[in-house]
Amino acid sequence: MQVDEDKLAAYFADEPSDAPFSHLDRTRLPRHVSIIMDGNGRWAQAQGLSRSEGHKAGIVALREIITASVRLGIDVLSAYAFSTENWNRPAHEVNVLMHLFAKTFIDELPLLKRENVRVVFLGDIEALPKKTREVFEYGVEACKDHTGMVLALAVNYGARAELTRACRLLAQDVAAGRVDPAAIDERAISSRLYTAGLPDPELVIRTSGELRLSNYLLWQVAYAEFYVTDTYWPDFNRWDYVRALLSFEGRDRRFGGLSKK
Ligand code: FPP
Repeated sequence: MQVDEDKLAAYFADEPSDAPFSHLDRTRLPRHVSIIMDGNGRWAQAQGLSRSEGHKAGIVALREIITASVRLGIDVLSAYAFSTENWNRPAHEVNVLMHLFAKTFIDELPLLKRENVRVVFLGDIEALPKKTREVFEYGVEACKDHTGMVLALAVNYGARAELTRACRLLAQDVAAGRVDPAAIDERAISSRLYTAGLPDPELVIRTSGELRLSNYLLWQVAYAEFYVTDTYWPDFNRWDYVRALLSFEGRDRRFGGLSKK
């Protein structure tokens, strides 16, 4: 069985309904939602499909959550697409993913333009295959004046590599006399991360039931709320998203202080 691309396109040509959003209190939504999109491979295996088909289905799910986030007025949506550890996958799968990233990004540019979405990449995209890197750079440039939601795609991203890079940048600034070591504060570190200028995630969603962070945004999620669902990423839809957001809205966020309730 293959994913029927025409059928999928026809289905998504009809914008999915905004009905689920009526359950949410818009004043209590997180500003930044971050998603660890996991389970494409297992989803595919469960249906007798190739892992590549799982990744393609994952892209359809990502598109639905992007448009849902725009409708809801979320400021930043970030998503973990490829980690520094994912290079350890078989070369064929890495190639498929790199090709898919480039193709998806080109295909989705009209959507990003229509929805006024600005795109940033988190991670070392210099190290990506030339074509993928060039498409990403082109897309970032094409969307740079958009004033709506920020879509932050983590590609060739690892939190330890990001923190190491921030330390290196800071050390260079100290060595050059631009920064006084005694003046180094949390802001000095935050401003040297790939997420510089973005608010920290308030809600991290992980699909497919794994209870780990997988080297993702270790610094930025210090006070994030976590939501884990057993649903595989390709099956995650706006109803699942609303469930995660409702869970967030019900949390008592104390930030180490006492409850205000
Ligand atoms: C995890 O599933 C998912 C990925 C490694 C890739 C996800 C990427 C997308 C959905 C597209 C992103 C689009 C752009 C333009 C960057 P897995 O393979 O780890 O699943 P498994 O744990 O079941 O094997």
